[in-house]
Amino acid sequence: MRVYLNGRIVPASEATVPLTERGLLFGDGIYEVTRAAGGEFIELSRHVTRLMRNLRELQIRVPEERITELVDASRTLIQENAPEGDALVYWQVTRGAAPRVHHFPPPQTLPTIFANVTSVALPHAMRTRGAVAITVPDIRWARCDIKTVNLLPNVLAKQRAVEAGADEAIFVRDGAVIEGASSNIFAAIDGELRTHPASPYMLGGITRDVVLELAHEARLTVREVPILLDELYRAREAFFTSTFNDVMPIVRIDGRAIGDGQPGPTTRQLYAAFAEHIGAVPAARAAGAARPELARK
Ligand code: PDD
Repeated sequence: MRVYLNGRIVPASEATVPLTERGLLFGDGIYEVTRAAGGEFIELSRHVTRLMRNLRELQIRVPEERITELVDASRTLIQENAPEGDALVYWQVTRGAAPRVHHFPPPQTLPTIFANVTSVALPHAMRTRGAVAITVPDIRWARCDIKTVNLLPNVLAKQRAVEAGADEAIFVRDGAVIEGASSNIFAAIDGELRTHPASPYMLGGITRDVVLELAHEARLTVREVPILLDELYRAREAFFTSTFNDVMPIVRIDGRAIGDGQPGPTTRQLYAAFAEHIGAVPAARAAGAARPELARK
């Protein structure tokens, strides 16, 4: 396996960073998880835009040419590692290596820029049976809109889900459903599709944005308003969205069945529309997705 590190494509075993790297010491950096299918990126420009916004938010200065180089190198890595199926392309940019002080290091410190590519099996079986989720208190900070590598609350939440035999943990803050440990949450409640509005307390997911656009196109009633936990429990349908789960039905939360305990029609409609949008229609059909026009409200 070869990876990209600071301008070079090298064998993974030769890709090393100093122990003073600020990503290691402080979690001082950001990341992106992007996806490629058949050798080409899905929603590349949205991922690059989010990456650049996150760098600006943390004041990590990276010339635009370096981002172009990162994307080009990633294409090479996709060809080498996963030319046919779906590939996970991971990007990470940290503030670089420097003697340990909390404040920013000298301006000449070079950021560490890293990419690797792995082949991924898509979770079609989970989509067919429906995912199980638990809720956890949201103990994160007030800038969850920045995709930083500081993921400890997410790690702990996901571990609780695994120990409970669940697929995802859902963060709840002051009684409101914020997002999943690595996904955004939607619910069909009282005839409308709801998801938490974009806010500093959650990540603006790219899949979420695309699903919102597709839901509007399908003329579903959509509202970006907080969902209370009680409302989530009595939702007709719920689903989560993320780069590798697309639109994933949730059929059980904290041991309670959602709706009739089966993936619902709006969820299947939106998955089918999403799969078509990203050009994954055969996979969607294989997973039993409804065709969009069949499930209109
Ligand atoms: N996570 N919210 C959080 C906290 C996330 O970590 C993610 C994605 C999302 C969904 O974002 P998107 O649709 O852009 O993938 C929402 C990635 C996949 C990860 O950390 O592996």
